[in-house]
Amino acid sequence: MKIDQITCTRYPPSNLDIPVSDIYFSSIYKNDAHLCLIIKVHVIFLIFGLIKRRKMVVKVYGSYKSVCTLRVISCLIEKDVEYELVQIDLGAGEHKKEQFLARQPFGQVPAIEDGDQFKLFESRAIARYIATKYADRGPDLLGNTPEERAVVDQWVEVEAHNYNDLVFNIIFNLYILPKMGKRGDRELAKECEKKLARVLDIYEERLGATKYLAGETFTMADLAHLPGTNFLITEAGKGYLVRQRKNVSRWWDEITGRSAWKKVLELLP
Ligand SMILES: *[C@@H]1O[C@H](CO)[C@@H](O)[C@H](O)[C@H]1NC(C)=O
Repeated sequence: MKIDQITCTRYPPSNLDIPVSDIYFSSIYKNDAHLCLIIKVHVIFLIFGLIKRRKMVVKVYGSYKSVCTLRVISCLIEKDVEYELVQIDLGAGEHKKEQFLARQPFGQVPAIEDGDQFKLFESRAIARYIATKYADRGPDLLGNTPEERAVVDQWVEVEAHNYNDLVFNIIFNLYILPKMGKRGDRELAKECEKKLARVLDIYEERLGATKYLAGETFTMADLAHLPGTNFLITEAGKGYLVRQRKNVSRWWDEITGRSAWKKVLELLP
């Protein structure tokens, strides 16, 4: 409703063609001062609303040292979604304590809170949720047709079931345990490396046929691999697994060259 409409109909004529709301307003606004006050109040509420919305950023409970937390952060940054990291002290076992278990019953980071109501855990589910909710921003990470989406999902599942555990075991035994002053199981790491090499041979073939895992564009499937593979190279010293394979190597350069990933790297402790 325009302001001049309100003032013009301050004294409702008998002609009932004017909208009921105008008559309603006209009976309230006895003079222009009232009107100005009402407008001011509305503007103040609008500003408060905007401030509140700004503060309602996605809260991520986790750690920049955690692969799974970084998977979620990578997605948030790709999608240009504001977030706040609520640090969970993994070294102190904070993720196994009651307060965190109320958020994530399995005691694993990350978990998120979006707004006052919505809570979620499992990094790939969170990343998919963010990519779906903010489909209108940043790159499309999920595919458009049912077939495209299914292929993205297929390679996200491959990462979760054929890739991640092997990478984790290598990093855990060769880097994390020794860093904590404990003996890592080098035999297990070696076994996992052998298996991972076979998985990467399949990637090598796939990445000979398509530019990225799920096709010709960067998707969630590629994003899901970023943090784990990064630690595999930087912390476990296994860069040769990537560099020995021409197509995987080209793919790795491609996906780590993205500006969102470079921003993630700057966050690492
Ligand atoms: C790697 O990619 C090339 C095409 O760029 C392809 O010809 C080759 O077969 C791929 N390697 C493997 C092991 O599939």
